[in-house]
Amino acid sequence: MRLTGIRRGHRFGRGLLFLLGFVAVLGLVCAPDRLQAQGLQAQEGLRWKVGAEAAAIERRIEALLARMTLEEKVGQTNLTGRGDQFRPEWVATGRSGAVMNFLAPTEIRPLQEAAKASRLGIPLIIGLDAIHGYATYFPQPLGQAATFNPELMELSAYWTAREARAVGVNWTFAPMVDVSRDPRWGRVMEGAGEDPYLSAVASVARVRGYHRGGVATSLKHFIGYGEVEGGRDYANALIPRSRLYDVHVPPFAEGVKAGAFTVMTSLSAMNGVPSTGDRSMITDLLKRRLGFRGFVVSDFESIMEMLAHRVAADPAGATRLAMRAGVDMDMFAGFYDRHLAAEVRAGRIPMAAVDDAVRRILRVKLHMGLFDEAPVDPETARAKLITPEARAASLRVAREAMVLLTNNGVLPIRREVKSIAVIGALGIADDDWQYADNASLPRIQRTTLPRELSRHLGSEVTIVGERAFKDSCGLAYGDREAALKAAREAELIVTVMGEECEQIGEGTSRTRLDLSPVQAEMLEDLIATGKPVVLILKTARPFVLTSYVNRVAAIIQSFHLGSDGRVALGEVLTGITNPSGKLPMTFPRSVGQIPISVDMLPTGRPRLKNARYETGYLDESIEPLFPFGFGLSYSPFEVSDIKLDAPSVRLPNGMISGSVRLTNRGERAGKEVVQIYMRQRVGSRSRPSRQFVAFEKVMLAPGEAREVRFSVPARALTFHDDDGKALLEPGDYDVFVGTDARASLTTSVRFLAAR
Ligand code: NOJ
Repeated sequence: MRLTGIRRGHRFGRGLLFLLGFVAVLGLVCAPDRLQAQGLQAQEGLRWKVGAEAAAIERRIEALLARMTLEEKVGQTNLTGRGDQFRPEWVATGRSGAVMNFLAPTEIRPLQEAAKASRLGIPLIIGLDAIHGYATYFPQPLGQAATFNPELMELSAYWTAREARAVGVNWTFAPMVDVSRDPRWGRVMEGAGEDPYLSAVASVARVRGYHRGGVATSLKHFIGYGEVEGGRDYANALIPRSRLYDVHVPPFAEGVKAGAFTVMTSLSAMNGVPSTGDRSMITDLLKRRLGFRGFVVSDFESIMEMLAHRVAADPAGATRLAMRAGVDMDMFAGFYDRHLAAEVRAGRIPMAAVDDAVRRILRVKLHMGLFDEAPVDPETARAKLITPEARAASLRVAREAMVLLTNNGVLPIRREVKSIAVIGALGIADDDWQYADNASLPRIQRTTLPRELSRHLGSEVTIVGERAFKDSCGLAYGDREAALKAAREAELIVTVMGEECEQIGEGTSRTRLDLSPVQAEMLEDLIATGKPVVLILKTARPFVLTSYVNRVAAIIQSFHLGSDGRVALGEVLTGITNPSGKLPMTFPRSVGQIPISVDMLPTGRPRLKNARYETGYLDESIEPLFPFGFGLSYSPFEVSDIKLDAPSVRLPNGMISGSVRLTNRGERAGKEVVQIYMRQRVGSRSRPSRQFVAFEKVMLAPGEAREVRFSVPARALTFHDDDGKALLEPGDYDVFVGTDARASLTTSVRFLAAR
C-alpha cells in the first residue's frame, strides 16, 4: 500500500466501539513522549480506582453511611456557594457538602479545613465553571473544536484544571458536551459544535485533560439542551428517541466511559419533561444503561425551576420529582436542604433514594482522593498561575483555532504593503473580564494586534490602531471619525469585529446572526473606502456572512482565542503560522436556513435542477455558505488515491480500513485535516447524506505527499429506531474523503451480515 515518496503512514479512524448501541472513542491513548510533547505528565491526575482499591472505597462508603444522620446525608446533597445566603457554618456542621464559585485560595482553604474538622470529616467538593481557563485563558471550546486536534482540546482542559486546582478548586462544570444544533443559541461556544462524532472526541479529550490536571468533570447538560426550540435558551427541545440516541447521547456516553465523575442536568425540558425531573433519562439511561457510577448534580436552581415549568406544585413536590428522577445533588435551590429530610420522614421519599445519592457523592470524593489531600497553600498558589508553560500551551491552541474562510490573496500580508489600519476595540482593548479578577489574582497583560503586526512586519510598515467603538463590546461608537481617517490613509484595513461582553454564552440567544448595528455600519464604511479589508470575526457562534464574502478581501473566523489570541492572529496575518482550523458548525447563508447541519437526511425530491417541487427555498439556495469541516490554508492541499484494504467487512465487528494520499501543493508547510464521511445507500430508515466518521490532522512540508491510513469500525454506522434500539444493517455504504463535508473523493464498502 505504501506509495513512493511517502514518509510514514498515518492511522486514524472514527475509532468508535459500540456498547449497548452507544459509541466509544478508541485511541487517544497517550504514550509518555506524546504526553511530554503536550506539556502533560503521565502520572498526574484523577481516575476511577479499580479492583481492591475500589472495593475498599465501597466499604468505607458503607461505614460512613452507617454513621450519618439523615441531616448529614442531606448535607452532602446540598451544593451552596458564594452569595448573600452563604453561611460558612453550614460547611462546619456538615449541612453543605459542596460549594461553588469561590475563587481565591484564601477563601477556599478555611472552608475545606472547616469541612474536614466537621463531625465526620467529609471534605468539600469545590466547583467552578472553569470552562476554558482560570487565569490563563484558552480558546473557547468551540474554537478548541475548530482545531480538529484532540491533543489541543486535552491540553486546554489540562492547564485550565492545573490552575483551578492550584487555588483549591477541585471540580469544574465542564465539559459542556451538548451537540449544538442551532447557532442562534448563545451557548454554542461552550461545546464542540453540531456533530456527534466531533463532540464525542472533544468530550473524551476534555475529560482526560481536566482529570489529568486534577479537577473532576461534570458532563453537561443532560440532555437535549443543544437543540432547544428556535435556539431560545432554556426552552423545550423536541427530540425523537432515534435522534436522541444518534446525535445527543454519544458525547455523554463517551465522556462517561472516559471517566467523568459527575453529570449535570439541564435547565431546559425535552419533549415536555424538564431534564431535572426526567427519570427515564437520568436513572434509566444514564445510570443504568450507560453505567454511570458518579453523581448527578442539578443545574443552577433547576429543582426550583420545575415550579415554573409547572410540573411541581410546591417545593416539596419539586424535591420529590428531582430525587425520584435520580438527581443526587441540588445546586443552589436549597430544596433538598429544606425538604428532603421531612419528605423522607413522611415516607414520601424512600431512604434508599437518599442513600444512593449520598453513596454516589461519597464515591466521587473518595475516588478523587479528597479525604487524604493536603489543604491548598495560598502562599504558593499564585506562582502556579499564568506560568510560561500555560501561556505557551494557550498560544499553541490559538494558532490552530482560527478558520480562514475566504482569501482573495491578500493574506498573508505581502511585503509591498506599507501601511495598515487596524480597526476595532476587539483587536486593541484590554478590557476583557476574567474569573480571577474577583479574587484579585494576577491577570495577563494582553498585547494589541497593531503591536504584533509591527513586531513581524518591522518599522518600515506604518500601523495605526483605532478602537472605533467605545469598548470591546462593540455596541457603541468611540471615535468613529478617527477610525475612518486611519482606514482611508492605509493601504490595507484589518478589522476585528464580533460579539463580546453580555453578548455571549448563557442567556444570549439571537434571532439575527449579524454584527451589532454600529459594527455593521463601520464595516460598510470600511468597504466603501475601496481598500482591501481583512475581516477578523471574534464571534462566539456562526454569523451570517453572506453579504460580506465577495466584498471583503479575507475573512478569518477566530471565535475567542484566549489570553494570547492576538499573538496567534499576528502570526497568521503575516504568514508565520499557516491557518489550519476547520468549522465545527455549518455557516448558514441566512437565518432562515436553520436548522442546517452536516448530517441532514435526504428527501424524496432532492435539489437537482433548481426547479420548483424540489426541496429548497424560493429565496435562498439550499447550500450552506460554508460547510462543516471547511477552512482554508495558505497552501493548497490535494486528497487523492483512496484505497480500501478490503471491499467488504463483516458485521458487527468489522473494521473498514484503507488509505488516501495527501499532497501539499503549496510553498508553505501546513496542516490539513483529512476528513472521512460515510453514507448508507439503502437502509430501513432514511440515513444522513453525510455522516462524519473520522479525521486526522496532518502536517506536510511544501510539496510533500503522504499516505494517510484510516480505519473506521463498521459499528460507527449504527443508528437507532424509535424505541432507541440500535440497528446496524448489511448492505452497501459510500465512503467520501476530502477536506470538508463536501468531500467528493469516493469509494464504497459492503457490510456483510453477521454469521
Ligand atoms: C447555569 C449553567 O446552565 C451551567 O452550565 C453552569 O454550570 C451553572 N449555571 C453554574 O454556574
